[in-house]
Amino acid sequence: MLAILGGSGLTQFAELEVTRRKPVDTPYGAPSDALTIGTIGGAPALFLARHGRGHSIAPHEVNYRANVWALRQEGVEGIVAVAAVGGIRRDLAPGELLLPDQIIDYTWGRRSTFFEGADTPVTHIDFTEPYSAALRRRILAAAAACGEPVVDGGVYAATQGPRLESAAEIDRLERDGADVVGMTGMPEAALAREAGLDYAAIAVVANHAAGRGESAGAVSLERIAAVLEQAMHRVRRIISTIVAR
Ligand code: HPA
Repeated sequence: MLAILGGSGLTQFAELEVTRRKPVDTPYGAPSDALTIGTIGGAPALFLARHGRGHSIAPHEVNYRANVWALRQEGVEGIVAVAAVGGIRRDLAPGELLLPDQIIDYTWGRRSTFFEGADTPVTHIDFTEPYSAALRRRILAAAAACGEPVVDGGVYAATQGPRLESAAEIDRLERDGADVVGMTGMPEAALAREAGLDYAAIAVVANHAAGRGESAGAVSLERIAAVLEQAMHRVRRIISTIVAR
């Protein structure tokens, strides 16, 4: 069973025929919401809203450890994360979908490992390739099967939020090699690796990043909501195709 970890603009998954909502607890506290378990096209799937059902948990307040642990406890084979991003690269317009293959972490102060505490041996994970190649291939194949264009590869910069970036910060991220910027990709991806779960993300470009294109003077939050609303139909189609295959 695959888990879908929905972000901004994806707090419910319409195609999921819900069989039950399961409140769970973990050694790291409660996840963002109860797990929504059901089927898509007859195949089992599980959905969790990263920011809670009412979208009330800010990126820096998400209990990433509890979310990932809850999914692992449920025995999922992998996580397809959905994340709204700002487009830094010039060709990444609002509405575009991108499958990142690299991450740079600019977040701070988040609980970012399961391997801490007096009784836990120091453990290092390999993170050279932060996203699962196998899961990325499945997403790309599903997108191709339903005729949805997806940009294959890109560097995701994870910022602390909840504020958006300054134009100079975006310039710096670009110099660092980042293509898109979001607030939730880390520590989520690293925790999934620690938990031994395949993890890949579908980044939904919600806006030009600060200082770029339409956002030259300011980022329009109203426009972000409208873009996400429209783009999530396509994301749900792709994910439904992966699950049902
Ligand atoms: N920056 C950071 N996170 C985001 C953005 C952005 O421009 N758009 C959507 N999530």
